[in-house]
Amino acid sequence: MTDKSKVDQLVDWVDERTGVKALMDEALNEPIRGGARWAYVFGSALLFLFVVQVVTGIVMTLYYVPTADHAHASVAYIQKAVPGGALLRGIHHYGSSAMVILAVAHLAQTFLYGAYKQKRELVWVIGVVMLLIVLGFGFTGYLLTWDQAAYFGTKVGTSIAGEIPGVGPIQQKIMLGGTELTTVTLSRFFTAHVFLLPLLLALLAGLHVSLFRKAGPAGPYHNRDDNKVDRFYPKQVFFDSVAMLVVFVTLVYLAMKMPAELGPVADPSSDYLARPPWYFMPLFQLLKWFPGPWSIVPTVVLPGVIFGALFLLPFLDRKAERNPFKRPIASLVLLLTLAGSIGLIFLARHQDRTNPEFAEKLKKQEEEMHAFFKAPFEPQVIGATTAMVGATGAGGSGAAPAAYMEHCADCHGANGQGEADLGPPLTGMSAKPRRTAEDLFKIMEDARAYDLKKPMPASFPDISEADKKAIVEWMLKLK
Ligand code: HEC
Repeated sequence: MTDKSKVDQLVDWVDERTGVKALMDEALNEPIRGGARWAYVFGSALLFLFVVQVVTGIVMTLYYVPTADHAHASVAYIQKAVPGGALLRGIHHYGSSAMVILAVAHLAQTFLYGAYKQKRELVWVIGVVMLLIVLGFGFTGYLLTWDQAAYFGTKVGTSIAGEIPGVGPIQQKIMLGGTELTTVTLSRFFTAHVFLLPLLLALLAGLHVSLFRKAGPAGPYHNRDDNKVDRFYPKQVFFDSVAMLVVFVTLVYLAMKMPAELGPVADPSSDYLARPPWYFMPLFQLLKWFPGPWSIVPTVVLPGVIFGALFLLPFLDRKAERNPFKRPIASLVLLLTLAGSIGLIFLARHQDRTNPEFAEKLKKQEEEMHAFFKAPFEPQVIGATTAMVGATGAGGSGAAPAAYMEHCADCHGANGQGEADLGPPLTGMSAKPRRTAEDLFKIMEDARAYDLKKPMPASFPDISEADKKAIVEWMLKLK
């Protein structure tokens, strides 16, 4: 006992109380039939991505405000003002696409290797549910920025959901929280995005992994080197770690090279031309070909057939054969579905570029988005309190200085338009006699000298000279 180091003693102490050593043993010594492989990295990479999304997402919720009034400004604040915010948001943005890509890759690999067979039906079925949840994350997350693209994209998305015969209208009403896309909708999407879906995904991922561990990895499809067995550690752990690193570096690279965009705030009265995120593009493209009552083909029939087939696959396909080359029909169907989806995405993009009716409008929308994106952050001022933490940086913009918000807004209104009713509007000051910059400054020192009566306070000893100057400067600019 005595020759054990302090660290070992601590480990023993913890182990006696938790059984952590046995757990680690079980986790790392998992036998991998046929040996470790690069083909098996997708699951671990997905789990890693989920953690990345959770971490970046949690940090963003420290700033994000899920209401129609503030959502967009808070995202702009994260993007433009929070140190590292753009990187964080970029990682989260590209992470969501990466999750869709890796989930499909994971599914395709499992499918081609026939790894859903032999007592792995439930692992597969849970996996398909998780794919749907990943798409749900994309759908709910898209609205949260509350910019033009988000608002109108979601409007189209929810109305498509509403057109599904039978459940459609109720489903749409539940999603929207009414009949219109409002702050209630945003609240619901936010709750789904940060509470319900993550909780569900975490539970299912736990179940997925534990059932998978129970069944054990299926191993290579040809069963040739079946007697070759690696342990999970170290070889597969190494492969998985490299995959995670590649994923992470790619996300950081994309986030820095092509920052996640943000357009101007949603304006429900505008006629914005909506486009869905890329992974809903195939559905969007098909909708063009199935107008009117036929729209149920792409919205209900096709997804129903695809996901129905995915769910039932392990129960319908009971043959032991796993080699993709000896299951030509299954392999072909998968490849055609994937190629078809990718083709539809490119076709939709191509039509947008070449259709004269859309091309110009989309180009204009894109320019507006870039213009907003490049502009510096403008704090948003609402009511008597500054809505955004960034209000101190108000100089030169339309928003009032913080000192004004604290000492004057309650009477003269947050925008100086007299909207608070206790004091007159402060507009057009320079046009009035005895209201030059100097006068305005002196009014704050001795209002009575200017014949200003109560309730206008006689002086503001609490406001610093610099703040008074900032207020004067701002007042003179009011229109
Ligand atoms: C408690 C309410 C109240 C507060 C707080 C207050 N004001 Fe006033 N203010 C008034 C009222 C009422 C008048 C009109 C007085 C009059 O004309 O008799 C007025 C008048 C003025 C005028 C003259 C308007 C004109 O038409 O020429 C200026 C300038 C002004 N306020 C600036 C400020 C500034 C700057 C602050 C904050 C540092 C401030 N006020 C805080 C109530 C308020």
